[in-house]
Amino acid sequence: MEKIQVLDKTFRLYMPEAEIQATVKRLADELSRDFKGKDPILCPVLTGSYLFVADLTRQMDFDAQVSFVRYTSYEGLESTGEVTKVMGFPDRCTGRDVIIVEDIVDSGISMEFMINELKKREPASISICTFFFKPGNFKKDFKIDYVGKSIANDFIVGYGLDYSGQGRTYRDVYILDR
Ligand code: IMP
Ligand code: MG
Repeated sequence: MEKIQVLDKTFRLYMPEAEIQATVKRLADELSRDFKGKDPILCPVLTGSYLFVADLTRQMDFDAQVSFVRYTSYEGLESTGEVTKVMGFPDRCTGRDVIIVEDIVDSGISMEFMINELKKREPASISICTFFFKPGNFKKDFKIDYVGKSIANDFIVGYGLDYSGQGRTYRDVYILDR
């Protein structure tokens, strides 16, 4: 589909499934290179990363524990700037290599908040893996270890990403048609 309607907004095709899956494969190869034999814990952030982490783990060539976390900040097209913990990092992160898996890092406010929460568990290391990254909006200075695709400051949906709870289930990614 070239165009989709999500609630009151129209979106057009931006990243087709084949390109998404090639990007997932590249990230899985990078993680396999760095973590094989290290027994890391993957902490995907609900809800946006549910498809990404499922694809990612099926392309990795090592086993890992998976423990979802949930922190929220977005409403509609904008971040509220206030992050709320719904489901935090588990105790077993202590002393372990933890990889936070996100759908998108925008301002970085949510991720910085999560990094600080995770540090309280005293993990051996913290790595960040995000599918999308908006460098033009990024206001923080933590390092992002694995980036699928850097994009402009546009709003996207699909492949887990939503607009007001809708649009997540598309296999391709769509960009807001302004
Ligand atoms: P940040 O705190 O500004 O970095 O926002 C991060 C969160 O905002 C992400 O985990 C997403 O849930 C959401 N978000 C940011 N940009 C987009 C977008 O373009 N589409 C859908 N959700 C987005
Ligand atoms: Mg998210």
